Amino acid sequence: MNSGESIFDTLGEAKIKTLVTEFYNQVKQTPDLRKLYPEKDLSGAEERLFLFLLHVFGGPHTYLEKRGHPMLRRRHFQWSIDGQMRNLWLNCMFKAMDSIDIDPNVREAMMSYFIKVANHMINKE
Ligand code: HEM
Repeated sequence: MNSGESIFDTLGEAKIKTLVTEFYNQVKQTPDLRKLYPEKDLSGAEERLFLFLLHVFGGPHTYLEKRGHPMLRRRHFQWSIDGQMRNLWLNCMFKAMDSIDIDPNVREAMMSYFIKVANHMINKE
């Protein structure tokens, strides 16, 4: 990743898509996390996370057009998220990251981003 290049530039849309698909495959195998997702079919959730990641990683901003300002913490208030739930989410994401080929610098940037945001989602001791 050269300076000035976004994660989106280096990774490309296809890998972000694979990342999100693999993340939800992991969620499906993690009952304590899966039970939070209201829908039987996770394709809507998959689409929302995909568009969000395109947006934050420097790609198209379709997420904003469709969902408005992310307000992620507020949108997550409806679920009790403690440290253990955060770890389940992050484990799914880290396993998903293992399934795609990522430059080590990009991997590090993505991991710190996910850890930072996941910590911010905690709303219960
Ligand atoms: C810390 C543990 C977390 C839990 C338990 C959790 C759980 C959930 C659940 C149950 C949903 C509803 C799925 C849907 O129908 O869209 C959701 C939505 C979402 N989550 Fe998380 N999440 C966590 C962390 C994160 C993190 C770290 C990010 C971003 C890096 C994130 C980004 C999103 C986005 C973009 C949506 C869709 C928001 C919308 O447009 O409505 N979540 N999350």
